[in-house]
Amino acid sequence: MLSYRHLYHAGNFADVVKHVVLVALLEAITRKPTPCYVQDTHAGCGAYALDSHEAQQGKEHQDGIGRIWQIQEAPQVIHRYLEIVREWNAGLPEPRYYPGSPAIAQSLLRKSDRLVLTELHPQDHDALVNQFQDDKRIRIHKQDAYQGLKAFLPPPEKRGLVLIDPPFERKDEYDRVVAGLQTGYSRWSHGIYAIWYPIMSRGLQTRFLEACVATGIRKILHCEFLIAPFSSDKRFVGCGMLIVNPPWQIDTTLEICLQWLQVPLRQANDVQVRVDWLVPE
Ligand SMILES: C[S@@+](CC[C@H](N)C(=O)[O-])C[C@H]1O[C@@H](n2cnc3c(N)ncnc32)[C@H](O)[C@@H]1O
Repeated sequence: MLSYRHLYHAGNFADVVKHVVLVALLEAITRKPTPCYVQDTHAGCGAYALDSHEAQQGKEHQDGIGRIWQIQEAPQVIHRYLEIVREWNAGLPEPRYYPGSPAIAQSLLRKSDRLVLTELHPQDHDALVNQFQDDKRIRIHKQDAYQGLKAFLPPPEKRGLVLIDPPFERKDEYDRVVAGLQTGYSRWSHGIYAIWYPIMSRGLQTRFLEACVATGIRKILHCEFLIAPFSSDKRFVGCGMLIVNPPWQIDTTLEICLQWLQVPLRQANDVQVRVDWLVPE
């Protein structure tokens, strides 16, 4: 069952939040000279055409990257993220292309770093191959995300990041993410794990967070970004990210970034950003 196509949602508020967090993490892990490993378990198709028929259906990017892409004064991490988006759209009056997580990682990784992409959808997998096959740092696998956690972890590099960004179309996806995190962590307990999830109903989200706590894994940072209150008629009111083994002081960086992003991206005034520890050290 692979009906989900990220092209319909590319560049929306949730992509902006996820990719700003990704830039913060990639910048943090590439500060030291030793090589890093990055695994993107649900890679998507790498980059998205915002003028495509699919992206034009809901025009979700207009309330995401469209609201901020021209802003020049922003916290350093957001500035770097916007530079990457603007490089993809050089000379254009409106953003026509949106870089996905693999393209953002490609921009920030150094010569000695490695990126492994797993993606099951045949079309998206082929798009990844077309885009990245000449980059020797990148390996692309048409493989299940959760199988990939078993197959590729632990990496020989001592440091790195696993991004887990499923479509959440299956009812059991939250359970699969928790099990996937346990699998990955049992193989590579020093790795950083960044998990994106949608916020639709308080109950579902609370059960997911409780299941993460019940794994016994320590050092889990929790970010929550709402654009509308739970009482609104919107189904998709926000998104969250969990970061296991977060780099030092990233909580402060993310709080500054998410507070800054909420002003242009929110669709109601009475909403808040949270960055706190789900499980401390
Ligand atoms: C939210 S999109 C990924 C977006 C991408 N990470 C980004 O930020 O640009 C989720 C992707 O996961 C893929 N997918 C769904 N189930 C999968 C699975 N079990 N294993 C690998 N890929 C999967 C979908 O085809 C889709 O392209």
